[in-house]
Amino acid sequence: MDLQVKDGWIEVIAGSMYAGKTEELIRRIKRIEYAKKDVIVFKPQIDNRYSVNEVVSHNNGRTRSININNPIEILEYTSDKLPYAIAIDEVQFLSREVIDICEHLADQGVRVIVAGLDKDFRGEPFGIMPELLARAEFVTKLDAICQVCGDKATRTQRIINGQPAKYSDPIILVGAKEQYEARCRHCHIVLDKPVQKYYE
Ligand code: TMP
Ligand code: MG
Ligand code: ZN
Repeated sequence: MDLQVKDGWIEVIAGSMYAGKTEELIRRIKRIEYAKKDVIVFKPQIDNRYSVNEVVSHNNGRTRSININNPIEILEYTSDKLPYAIAIDEVQFLSREVIDICEHLADQGVRVIVAGLDKDFRGEPFGIMPELLARAEFVTKLDAICQVCGDKATRTQRIINGQPAKYSDPIILVGAKEQYEARCRHCHIVLDKPVQKYYE
């Protein structure tokens, strides 16, 4: 029997804000580096919260990264020599092309590790994340602690001027503790959410 395990797959780390997604991504990156294998780390330009050229977790874990505007840039950095792995943080902010690029690199034998929010502040699937989750070989879904009741938090509460955000507010609003809390399903509030008539 052939016991050789081929490299090349997609790993997704998903969950709400403050669940430790970036921390887990950094942990995997460091393990690859300890093993003396090469890993190239990317993050979308839009995320300038803590640092321009580093991926940074809420508890200040950090590792160097390349800022990209367009996922096509990932191919430029991997075209000369395929790395053992690539890692992308905040993948929910990238355009759809990132899905094809992740699939392509995994097909070529690259270990692809991405981290992102599974749901937006409305509690709905975030952009391309559902498709990435479906295509991944390995999914890790992390939870946080609800800042209201202390149960497991699976959602992110956006707060604007002390009030829960409205359903119609823009999806993208880069921020941290000033605008966002981790909440469980039952403590999560979205103002003016359209009623789901089927279930009334
Ligand atoms: P984090 O997952 O590392 O905590 O970062 C999530 C980023 O996404 C943060 O900048 C806030 C932003 N964000 C949105 O743009 N829209 C949303 O609906 C949510 C929940 C977060
Ligand atoms: Mg993060
Ligand atoms: Zn709660």
